[in-house]
Amino acid sequence: MEALVSSWSTNAQSLPENYVFPPRQRPGKLIVPPCKSIALIDLGKAESSDRAETIQKILEASQECGFFQVINHGVSDNLIDESMSIFKEFFNLPAEDKASLYSTDLNKSCRLYTSNFTYETEEVHFWSDILRHPCHPLQDQVQIWPEKPTRYREIVGAYSVELRKLSLKILDLICEGLGLEQGYFGDELSKGQMLSVNHYSRCPDPSLTLGLPKHCDPNLKTVVLQGNVGGLQVYKDGHGQWLGVEPLPHAFVVNIGYQLQIISNGKLRGAEHRVMTIPREARTTAATFINPSPDCVIHPAEALVNLSNPTLQGLYIR
Ligand code: OGA
Ligand code: NI
Repeated sequence: MEALVSSWSTNAQSLPENYVFPPRQRPGKLIVPPCKSIALIDLGKAESSDRAETIQKILEASQECGFFQVINHGVSDNLIDESMSIFKEFFNLPAEDKASLYSTDLNKSCRLYTSNFTYETEEVHFWSDILRHPCHPLQDQVQIWPEKPTRYREIVGAYSVELRKLSLKILDLICEGLGLEQGYFGDELSKGQMLSVNHYSRCPDPSLTLGLPKHCDPNLKTVVLQGNVGGLQVYKDGHGQWLGVEPLPHAFVVNIGYQLQIISNGKLRGAEHRVMTIPREARTTAATFINPSPDCVIHPAEALVNLSNPTLQGLYIR
């Protein structure tokens, strides 16, 4: 529990040695251009005569960058604000209220941990504390969620239901864009839903450490509430450059996971991304991961395998 960055870092003047990365792995340039090339998609238009154009934009963004942002997504500003407040409130609870959730056991389904999945064996830690729990079906999962703050279950329950609707709506548009049969992602492939509430405490020296390492989400698709503080960066292969994902109030950041890359037979791509820390203030984000049920075998959709797009092993190794 003492390991949580938020438990001890409030007045930290310098970065402890076990958070300082070797020079080659440090984040480098701290100021990166906010990325205007990450598409901003108005999902409201998917319900109008602009549907085809909206789908086209989603496909292009998923192909080129693996990331896009959505507005007019149907989740109310009020629910977003209440959820963000409760996420922040959770990390501000006194240590004794969080202690029972803290665990390094990867099999514990609702748990609070710090850094990566390998805290005990890694030499250098990441500057993040994470609360992670399943969300679907809600009635089966909500009992294991935090009891404090007292409205956590109610607000995050409503948030999870809305985020599921939004995630499935986007998957339906992707399905249509890829030309797959209707409902392709609707059943086994999207059964699981996991929420990861990420808390990056104010950091005394962002040039030496990272909140999350360079990674690609392994699941189907992710929807991130970034809030009003930036820190998420996407690696643009072609440019060999990190680009900042601009924080837009009440927007969601959507990214393609490796499983969707495989199902789309490489047509869509999961992009690598990482999280920078912030010197001025703490940053809290919430990532909703859509996962297939555990016994699902992930393979390219048959409709997307043809002579000009054969399934090649190398396609998946980036
Ligand atoms: C993640 C992730 C981004 C962020 O949780 O996988 O990439 O800004 N989060 O917290
Ligand atoms: Ni991620």
